[in-house]
Amino acid sequence: MIVPFNDLSTVNKKINKKILSTIKKNKFILSNEVSSFEKEFGNFCNAKYVLGCANGYDALFLSLKVLNLSKNSEVIIPAMTYAATAYAVINAGLKLKLVDVDKNGLINLEMLEKKINPNTKVIIPVHLYGQPVNMKKLIDIKKKYNLKIIEDCAQAHGAFDYTTKKKIGCIGDLACYSFYPGKNLGAIGDAGAVVTNNKNFYNKLKGFRALGSKIKYIHNTFGVNSRLDEIQACVLRAKLKSLNIHNNSRKKIAKYYKKNIKSHKDLQIVNTTKGSIFHVFNIIVKNRNHLVNYLKKKKIYCVIHYPKSINQHKFLKNISKEKFHFAEKLAKNSLSIPIFPFMKKRQIDHVVKNINYYFNKII
Ligand SMILES: Cc1ncc(COP(=O)(O)O)c(C=O)c1O
Repeated sequence: MIVPFNDLSTVNKKINKKILSTIKKNKFILSNEVSSFEKEFGNFCNAKYVLGCANGYDALFLSLKVLNLSKNSEVIIPAMTYAATAYAVINAGLKLKLVDVDKNGLINLEMLEKKINPNTKVIIPVHLYGQPVNMKKLIDIKKKYNLKIIEDCAQAHGAFDYTTKKKIGCIGDLACYSFYPGKNLGAIGDAGAVVTNNKNFYNKLKGFRALGSKIKYIHNTFGVNSRLDEIQACVLRAKLKSLNIHNNSRKKIAKYYKKNIKSHKDLQIVNTTKGSIFHVFNIIVKNRNHLVNYLKKKKIYCVIHYPKSINQHKFLKNISKEKFHFAEKLAKNSLSIPIFPFMKKRQIDHVVKNINYYFNKII
């Protein structure tokens, strides 16, 4: 039996029909499908404004640009995230500061407070692996130091933060989404969005995504070309309808894994924060390569999120000479095992059985 890491074959007959009818409309960029998706995704996030753009990286970059910060402003991000979070800060011409993560891979809020200085202007919490950051504590820090919060929600479409009793979406000033195909809400190519309740930000962002132009061929402000296309939007609209069902299916699988993967001194489950929608289900293991190879032989395919912490990337090495204990531990020892909506029961059992066998009979 094969257990792939993910299953992207969710574009079914119904969606194919919608794609065809969108093509027939002969409108391909920023038209009705995009504006309808923006409205519907805003409802899903309980936020007033959504701006579709080309990808999650652009959503972060444009959100930083809309804050109009001076050059020496510092932006704090967690040391374990996808590189896009860091690149957005650097490419926006701002100073990148890193904070270690906790045992679940989320920004360590106690350590964060110690890093804040008068130049600190923004915090980017990353709701990593589908887990919500403790937003209540973070909003308290924001208020205390008068900071802006840009949430990186690229892995957390629909996660619920029990500390504020709000769905992740726009608890901070701006929230950024990726709809990369493998995400919980994935397009059939690149796509992203910025979500905000701030009308002023939204109005500026409309120009920012279209080379500074809100009226065709009239270019008045800063801008990049980061438009969302109609086909991606029509696919996202269709898939948004099933997002809660898909997230629930992931939650059920995660619950089953937690119940049935037997505890062992060399195995630790990472994604344990309440409200997670399990974009990833990962474990920390002592000898990762050995387990990966064993599972591969059993046709179970895993991925590493991520093999390097932000400070370990060659391009980002000069950012900090500090050690980031937990981020580096995740980079060295964490392994994401298969989890995707409607994974078959026998596939889930195959994973459980082989992990249990590995820890009890092989090592
Ligand atoms: C945490 C995080 N931030 C940002 C991004 C960037 O999104 P995109 O690949 O759509 O640019 C991703 C995508 O993998 C991500 O996981």
